[in-house]
This record gives sequence, structure tokens and C-alpha cells, in this order.
Amino acid sequence: MTAPLIDPFARAISYLRVSVTDRCDFRCTYCMTEHMQFLPKKELLTLEELDRLCSAFIGLGVEKLRITGGEPLVRRGIMTFFEAMARHLQSGQLKELTLTTNGSQLKRFAADLAACGVKRVNVSLDTLDDEKFARITRWGRLAQVREGIEAAQAAGLRVKINVVALKGVNEDELFPIVEWCAAEGHDLTFIEVMPMGDMGEEDRLGQYWSLKDLRARLAERYSLTDLAERSGGPARYVRLEETGSKIGFITPLSHNFCESCNRVRLTCTGELYMCLGQEDRADLRAPLRASADDAVLEDAIRAAIAQKPKGHDFDYSRQSVAGQVTRHMSHTGG
Ligand code: GTP
Ligand code: 5AD
Ligand code: SF4
Repeated sequence: MTAPLIDPFARAISYLRVSVTDRCDFRCTYCMTEHMQFLPKKELLTLEELDRLCSAFIGLGVEKLRITGGEPLVRRGIMTFFEAMARHLQSGQLKELTLTTNGSQLKRFAADLAACGVKRVNVSLDTLDDEKFARITRWGRLAQVREGIEAAQAAGLRVKINVVALKGVNEDELFPIVEWCAAEGHDLTFIEVMPMGDMGEEDRLGQYWSLKDLRARLAERYSLTDLAERSGGPARYVRLEETGSKIGFITPLSHNFCESCNRVRLTCTGELYMCLGQEDRADLRAPLRASADDAVLEDAIRAAIAQKPKGHDFDYSRQSVAGQVTRHMSHTGG
């Protein structure tokens, strides 16, 4: 047995998020500028290189692999990568292979994903209103995402809807979204908006809707029971007794969860970001390409984990935005 990956704060790293492309077919306002410059294709690691990297992490104790983007399903040939990763599920080394997607390509890929051993998908969807959806995503069409979600269900995938809580944007849809998820049998997670990327004309402070407040609004209508169960991510869950549905809260601002962080993020160029909210990163492409010997790569991974920061410094509490990072969310896939 090799020693597991343990960071300087005694946290075991068992969860790898892999952004397989920085590209996306949407341009969500809180995630990207409208005229994003994407990486030239030649900068990308090949799918074979991503396989070798992910397999090295799995060899070092990573049990959960989440494929992200940009939009992961727009990366050419991505199903070959899922098919390759399925071998780690079969060997029992990997407990979960999953993805976070905007849902636009699920109609095409849901059945293939299920065949690769994917059991559930997280779909980012902030509104059920066509016009508002078009405004938030700039380029997206809600109908296409809904069809994708239906295809996922038809393929037997569980669906979790990720909603970024945005004051003045989807505040008025709290109950409709909750009711829709309950009726459709989807889990639901709310996320506090983080100060990432080129915020340009975006008003993060004005958009910030604390999930403490959102939860209090929910409690006016439903009985909430805290659940001990975890999905391996940062969400804390409650059950709504009236509907039996499950709701998660991801609260980087109102309740910091960095203490129990178990994850790192790999980008499509082979950079490893040790924290979503910090700039610390390590280049794994050079050691990957320097030698066919995985020992070199493993040493680089261990050295990176030894540099994992304690947590993010996002803070809106002084009526100003602090701790922001300029990197776009699409660079690391959240
Ligand atoms: P589950 O496996 O369902 O628990 O998913 P997850 O929450 O691990 O993954 P998902 O991609 O659905 O994450 C949702 C969002 O939560 C991300 O896009 C980020 O915005 C946020 N998030 C996830 N991990 C972290 C983290 O380590 N720090 C911070 N600040 N936010 C995170
Ligand atoms: N703050 C919080 N969540 C964000 N996401 C994108 N940008 C932000 C942000 N600034 C979420 C998306 C999706 C995931 C990839 O990250 O909605 O669920
Ligand atoms: Fe694309 Fe997701 Fe970013 Fe929206 S949040 S632009 S869907 S990567």
C-alpha cells in the first residue's frame, strides 16, 4: 500500500475534480465574460495524458473523480475518457465517477455516461424561466437543458440541480425551484456566489444571497431536518419533511467548510490547483511529460499536496468584496 495523500492540515485528499476543457457553449454572467479567450487546443493535455494523471491520483488514494469544465461534454472524444476511467470503478479503486455539467449535451451522452458507470450528474441550473435563463447564460436555451435532464433520468442517472443563489435574480423562484425538484425527483443544492473571475460590471455584493437567509425562508414553509449524510463534497443537507426531498447548502461565505476539504483540482493543461479560492498551483504537465515513470509524477503530486493552503479568503462581511481570485470559475470547473 502506498501512503495516502495528506495535506499540511491533516486533511486526506480523496476527491479529484478534473476540468477537461475551459470551453463552454454557454457564457454564464457570474462565470465568464461574453468574449472569453479560450486556450489554444495545442495547450490541452491529450485524453491519454489526462488518463495517466487521473490514474496516478487514484493510485494515491483518490476515490472520487468529478469531470468538469468549462462544459466537460463539449470536449471532443470525452466519452473515450469516461470509458477509460470506468476500469477504475471496476477494479474497486474508484468509488465514484461523475460530472458537473450545464446539461446542454446530456441528451446526446446520458446513456453512454450511464454505461460507463456514472450513477448521478450535477446539473447547473439557476432558473426555470426561459427568458431569465437566456439572460444568465447569455447563450443557453432552457428547453435544451430540460431535455438533457429528462434524458439523464431516462438513462437511470440521478440528477442533482445546482443553483447559484442570486439576490434579485432567482430569489423569487425559491419555492418554484424547490417544488419542481421535489416533483421531478431531483436533489437540489444551493451555492453562494463567490468572487471569482473578471467581475467587470457584475455586482457580487449586490448579488450575494446568504444561504442562512435562504434557509430561513425555506423554514417558513417547510419543516427542515438536518441530515448527517455527505456526498463527499462541501454541501450540508436537509430533508424537507413535506416533500421528502433533499436540499444541500454550499456556504463558502456564510459558513466556511475548508476545514474538511478533501479535494484538489486539475485543469486541462495539467495545472493542479490546491484550493478553489487561492492562486496556489503546481505544474504536473512537466513531470508527466518528463518521464514515463509514474514515480516522478507521484513525487510531484505529493509535493503539490504538501503546499495545499488552509482555505479561501472570500469575504463580503465588510460590505466590500475581499479575497477574490481573478481566475474564472471555468478554469477549474468550480
Ligand atoms: P457532490 O458530489 O454532489 O457533493 O458535488 P460537489 O458539491 O462536490 O460538486 P459540484 O461540482 O456540484 O460543486 C458545486 C459547486 O460548489 C462548485 O461549482 C463550487 O462552486 C462549489 N464548491 C465545490 N467545492 C468547493 C470548494 O472546495 N470550495 C469552495 N469554495 N466551493 C466549492
Ligand atoms: N460562484 C459560485 N458558483 C459558481 N459557479 C460558477 N461560477 C460561480 C461563482 N462565481 C458554479 C456553476 C456550476 C459550477 C461549475 O460552478 O453554477 O454549478
Ligand atoms: Fe459554462 Fe458552467 Fe461557466 Fe455557465 S457556469 S459558463 S455553464 S462553465
